[in-house]
Amino acid sequence: MSDSSVTPQPLLEVRGLACSFGAVRAVEDATFTVIPGTITGLIGPNGAGKSTVIDLITGRTPTQRGSIRFAGNDITGRRSHEIARLGMIRTFQQANVFSRLTVLENLLVGSRPWPGEGVGMALGPRRRWSEQELNLQDRAWGLLDRFGLRRLANEYAGALSGGQKRLVEMMRALMAEPKMLLLDEPMAGVNPSLANSIADRLEELLEEGMTMLMIEHDLHLVERLCDPVVVMAHGAVLAEGSMAELQENVEVVDAYLGA
Ligand SMILES: Nc1ncnc2c1ncn2[C@@H]1O[C@H](COP(=O)(O)OP(=O)(O)O)[C@@H](O)[C@H]1O
Ligand SMILES: [Mg+2]
Repeated sequence: MSDSSVTPQPLLEVRGLACSFGAVRAVEDATFTVIPGTITGLIGPNGAGKSTVIDLITGRTPTQRGSIRFAGNDITGRRSHEIARLGMIRTFQQANVFSRLTVLENLLVGSRPWPGEGVGMALGPRRRWSEQELNLQDRAWGLLDRFGLRRLANEYAGALSGGQKRLVEMMRALMAEPKMLLLDEPMAGVNPSLANSIADRLEELLEEGMTMLMIEHDLHLVERLCDPVVVMAHGAVLAEGSMAELQENVEVVDAYLGA
């Protein structure tokens, strides 16, 4: 048997990514992999380049150097909607909901095919359209139940608390039936009990086999949820390993974990 039957192939492979904004070298050399069925953590001080790495991976910001492979495809230089269509879906550090749509509508716009791609479907036979729409509605209600937000389905998303907006964003991401979720500080600014419930949902997704890359600054949550963990500092990857391994790494402790 080949090694590949033992060590799973990475779902995501990032090699030598670099990106500058004028004189600011936001990312200088990001190299790491994400193995399927993990929540891989991405940690590091403010300004280390973590969010920019997610922007690069998802095609939101063009990569100036390096390569990105996802699910067997070279996605370097591809546009964000193409990458999303391959099954890589992200959430943002600032929760990003459609304020003037209801919670349910926010979920429905997250489903495939996305707006602008659905012309064929919209022009198709009426019966097929309704069935598809019903399936999407079912899926949306299923997620609302799972996230405990059924009672908010018809509220405007703009009227929700910050934590609830994060849940809406996460449910909308799941409507797309992603292969991989990229989460940029999903618990930031969320009260502890809601943060805990987000952590529970992420653990469930992990048990179901979802693959995630998660930026998080609360190291207790990282320790609970993430293995392995990638540490960035000054735009480059400093180390990778379990939290226990990283706590033994002098460089990492000095750069980030210390005190
Ligand atoms: N659009 C941008 N324009 C200019 N500078 C940026 C932009 N995005 C990020 N930066 C800078 O790049 C560096 C890395 O930022 P970021 O990726 O947001 O770090 P992190 O998410 O690790 O806190 C910071 O110095 C930040 O100010
Ligand atoms: Mg950030």
